Amino acid sequence: MFRLEREGPLSAAPRERWNSRAGFVMAAVGSAVGLGNMWRFSYLAAEHGGAAFVVLYLGFTLIVGLPVLLAEFAVGRGAGRSPIPALEHFGGARWRWLGWLFVVTGFLILAYYGVIAGWTLRYALAGLGGFGANPGEFFAEVSTGGAAVAWQLGFMALTACVVVGGISKGIERVAVILMPALFVLLVFLALYAATLEGSSLGYRQYLNMNFAEIFDREVMVQAAGQAFFSLSLGMGAMLTFASYLDRGHDLKSESVIVAASDFGVAFLAGLVVFPLIFAFGLQADVSGSTVGALFITLPRAFAEMGAAGSVVGVLFFLGLAVGALTSAVSLLEVVVSSAIDGLGWSRVRATFVLAAVTAALGIPAALDLDWLGLMDQVAGNLFLVFGGLLLSLLVGWRMADPIGVASEGANSTAWFAAWRWLLRFVVPIILVLVLLGSLSATLELVATMGVG
Ligand code: PHE
Repeated sequence: MFRLEREGPLSAAPRERWNSRAGFVMAAVGSAVGLGNMWRFSYLAAEHGGAAFVVLYLGFTLIVGLPVLLAEFAVGRGAGRSPIPALEHFGGARWRWLGWLFVVTGFLILAYYGVIAGWTLRYALAGLGGFGANPGEFFAEVSTGGAAVAWQLGFMALTACVVVGGISKGIERVAVILMPALFVLLVFLALYAATLEGSSLGYRQYLNMNFAEIFDREVMVQAAGQAFFSLSLGMGAMLTFASYLDRGHDLKSESVIVAASDFGVAFLAGLVVFPLIFAFGLQADVSGSTVGALFITLPRAFAEMGAAGSVVGVLFFLGLAVGALTSAVSLLEVVVSSAIDGLGWSRVRATFVLAAVTAALGIPAALDLDWLGLMDQVAGNLFLVFGGLLLSLLVGWRMADPIGVASEGANSTAWFAAWRWLLRFVVPIILVLVLLGSLSATLELVATMGVG
């Protein structure tokens, strides 16, 4: 389909551009900040020894997340194209199929992510009338069936409305408003949570170090996987965003800002969730499933808080919905830009056709929680890590001059040699371990589903 020269940027039809550096950074932060760090992070931290998990997660963000993020930025900006032609540009024709894996992963993640995002919208609305005494029942009602499908479709329509506006007028404009708003909201919620009686128990659990947990292999694998998912790596979202950049940007500092913001928001979300859960003595309620804890345990806390709980709960779920929206936008942009580049479709056509296809793909997940869990495990865990592993091998070993490509626009090339070294040796080893863990978790899940 494409005949690509191997050196230099691809010259095709004029490509859309970000309006400003801050706009690009906000959009990338918007992709990273989502259900992953606002909820999955707190849950994992609660399950795995609080601060021990936080420290591990921070460590993996630095030695795995940051290098892969910079690699995606470099490939995207260097090629100036969507994932399939971009990977071919730097790796040769055989690497196209990694681009295909990215696109398939994008479809699958967005399909079930839209279902969960639909729940958050539904909860935000329902919370206006107060959170009921029986959140378990409410969740059962809301999470599957016709209602779940309707809210998922609504959320996908919202996502499409942002993406159809394009890079600077749609995605950037929305991110520049919503990301700072989300941050302010979380700070407010964290301050409020601090005023709750009994919140100190929550901080003690969150911030106290249980060193034994740090060396647990299972916890390490979870922390590394989380760092990866949370930064939206391994399926070309960051690569695609960077393909709309021009060459003046210092990609190293942009990566650092994005990774730091992503970690900061996750940490802040923990400062909201831990005190809330502990102040109402609901910690025993949390274990079990991530989803159950978010949509059943927390509403229980909101219900206990009375009228204030309604306000706090609505804001919390609204915040989740905002985070989910800016992440979903980046997922949809991967497939949309692929159709624009590869099939010559207009943005309008690509957005609506592909959003509809994704929404249809999500319907089984909206009808069956087991199916949703399986999609999350396979696409959100296995495929992401596999994609990220191959990408790090491409950039670390196969690309002719990764440092030259990545450091364009930077004042100096200091650190880039360390970056390449991490991509060559450290990142692949860790990702192989995570992949093995994820593979066995997937097989286990499939086995229990087959039995049930
Ligand atoms: N990073 C997002 C989150 O934390 C999820 C995501 C993964 C988004 C992969 C895009 C691509 O929720």
